Formats: sequence, structure tokens, C-alpha cells
Amino acid sequence: MPTTPATPALSALGQRARLPAVARLMKSALENPNLLSLAAGFTDNSTLPLAEFVAAAQSLAARAGEPEYLQYGTAQGRPELRRMLAARLKFWEPTLADNQIESRFMITNGSQQALYIAVQSLCNPGDIVLVDRPSYFAFLDVVSGLGARCRSLPFDREGRLNEAELDVFLTELKNSGDAARVKAVYLVSYFSNPSGRSLAETDKAMLGRVLAKHGLIVPLLEDVAYRELFFDTPHPSRSGLTLPEWQVFPQVYFATLTKPFSTGAKVGYAYCTDEKWLAQMLAIKGTHDFGTSNYGQALFEEVIRNGGFDTHVPKVRRGYKAKMLALHGALLAGGLRELGWTWEEPSGGMYLWLRAPAALNTGMDGEFCRACVEEGVLYVPGDLCFGDKPETNWIRASYGVLSPDQLAVAGGRLVRVAQRFAK
Ligand SMILES: Cc1ncc(COP(=O)(O)O)c(C=O)c1O
Repeated sequence: MPTTPATPALSALGQRARLPAVARLMKSALENPNLLSLAAGFTDNSTLPLAEFVAAAQSLAARAGEPEYLQYGTAQGRPELRRMLAARLKFWEPTLADNQIESRFMITNGSQQALYIAVQSLCNPGDIVLVDRPSYFAFLDVVSGLGARCRSLPFDREGRLNEAELDVFLTELKNSGDAARVKAVYLVSYFSNPSGRSLAETDKAMLGRVLAKHGLIVPLLEDVAYRELFFDTPHPSRSGLTLPEWQVFPQVYFATLTKPFSTGAKVGYAYCTDEKWLAQMLAIKGTHDFGTSNYGQALFEEVIRNGGFDTHVPKVRRGYKAKMLALHGALLAGGLRELGWTWEEPSGGMYLWLRAPAALNTGMDGEFCRACVEEGVLYVPGDLCFGDKPETNWIRASYGVLSPDQLAVAGGRLVRVAQRFAK
């Protein structure tokens, strides 16, 4: 007789679940306090909005009547917060023709939960999601965790889509029989994770037109997690919600209050254009948790109502711009470009997307990655960020959490390792 209970037989989903590869990286970071991490998508501790949350909590506590915000809420989320978020969405997409925006919202435990629910509501094992290239690796993990697959749209290295190549790609998809399994298109269209790029409006419009031409009218999942995190000016592109070429597509627009404000408060939201689909997603959300923290949502209502959100976000933007320049500057000054590395200077978001010389393997289990950890700097290996056919000479470097001084040191360490590998 065994003395301890055995691990139970797991479901297919339970067996498929994998700790994200970056979790292994984070573990090395925690084990080595001298390691400077450019890996995590964590936000900047020095600009977290403590005063705004203290004021919001005090104002809630001072409210007359019962503290309803300490009670369970609904799966859909607080009506007042939904109204506020609807007004914000209308600011970003002024031509959105929906006078009931707030009734089509789902407030979630970060936008990550909304992404999971959307894929869960659409995909069976074996189904396909078309994704940008590169793409957000935690979304790729959602898709594979649910037994579905990703196929990369034919984005070039500069993040552009070419109509002729797209045509060829979709024709091949049809000929291989895979087109019938395509259940969604996923785009991180503003200051993307990992590339820092925004999708040109002409390319986004063309994608909608060509998909429709090929009869692939599948849901668009547009993830705008970094839209508010521009440095100087917002990216001018409209979202699929108001682009004429996308009007025949059902859509979910995923946004979050975490990245531009407070990751720890973990409130995100999704706006869905289709009532029945939204109802099903809310039913799934109900089985996840009955609803996102009512108190967390009520705090955000206060923060938005008293102007704390709008005054704080510009500070966060300035902070990230300074940090991006610190890392970018350290890499330039160290001579990384002269070693054959290339990258663009982003105009928003939290990431530099660095391309190493083609022969250099920057992958998770490669020599270069190990040498960086020994030198005291950690990054996200870019091969994790491809929906298929991973390229092994990219690095995602986040400037979110380290201070400008630390970023300069981390950049210097990365360059030193690159110099050794260039010899
Ligand atoms: C592109 C993108 N989408 C969604 C998320 C999820 O963020 P949250 O759950 O904090 O809203 C992240 C987090 O890193 C992200 O980078």
C-alpha cells in the first residue's frame, strides 16, 4: 500500500499544460540576485500609482450605505466601470457605430483571461489561429494549451504584409485543407509584444479585404494591450472595429488597465461585436470565477472618476520612453550594431526586438543564452515568439522593470557577450 496518494490521471488539457518557458528563466532570475532581467514583461515599480489607489480606497470607504463593492459582482463586470470604459473606447474609436458599447463588454482578470476565454470559446483541439509574426508568446501558449495550433501570417522582417504573399499563403492554406480549421485571427496591433511595432492601417485593412476575398471570415481577436503606452503620439491606425474592411468580421477588442496603470490590480476588458458570442464567453467566465474582483473594479471606477488614471498614464509613458532610450543607448554605445545586430527604436510599448546575425543561436538552450545568464543578464529568447517556423536569432528585451541605470548595465552585459560570440 502506498503511503502517499498518487498523482491522479490527468485530462488531455491537464497533461498538455506546460509551465511557460519564461517561467524557467524567471526562476534563474530569482535564484541569482545579481542577474538583471530584461525578460519579464513586468511594469515599472517606481511609477506604480500608490497615491491614486490610496485615494480611491479612502473614497470608497467614505461612501454612505452598504459597501456593495465588497460583495460578489457579476460575470460581465460593474455597469459603471463598463460605462467609463465604453467612453474611453469611444475616444480611441470615435466612429464606432454602437450606442450600447457598455453592454458588449466583459471585464476580466487582466486581458490574459479574456484571451483565454475567447480561444476557449472558438477552438477545438486541432483548430488553427492565424497570428502575427512575431506574436505574443503567452497567447501562443493559450492556443497550444487548448490543443489548437498557430499559423503565422506572412509578415516580413519589418512587420509589413504583402498582398501577393498573403494571397499565396491563403491559397496554400486552402489547398492543404487547413483553411476550414482556421477559427480566428490574432493581432497585437499597437506597440506589440514582442516587436514594439504597430501594424500599418493600410496593411490591417488589406488583411481584412484579402481574408474576405478568400472566404475566411473568421473572428478577429485584436489585442491592444499597449495602445495607450505611446511615447509621444498615439499610433494613428484605426482598429478593426472601425475599419470598413473588417466590418463583416465578428471581433473582440482586448484592452487592459494593467500595462498603462497597475499590473497588480489586474483588471482588463474585452469588447465583443457579437451578442451571442459574448453571452457564451460570459457563461465561460462565470464558470471561471463568477466575475472579476468587484473591489478591484470599484477602485478603478474611483481612479478614473477622480482623474487619477488620466494624470498618471502620461507619467508612465515618459518613464518608459526614458527607459527605452537608456537601453537602446547602451546597446548603441556598446557597438552592438557594428557586430551585425539590428533593431528599430520603438515609439511606444515596453520592448526592444533585437535581431542577431543569422548564424547566432539566441534560443533558450543555446550557448549564447547561457553565457548571458553567466554574465548576469536575462532576456526572452525570440524563438518563443513565433506561431510556427521559429527563427532562432532574435531577442526580446524588456525595459519595463529595471531602472535606467540598471538598463545601461544590462545593455553593457549583453553587448559584452555579443562581442565574445562575434569572434
Ligand atoms: C500583448 C499582451 N496582451 C495581453 C497581455 C495580458 O496582460 P494583462 O492580463 O495584465 O492585461 C500582455 C501581458 O504581458 C501582453 O503583452
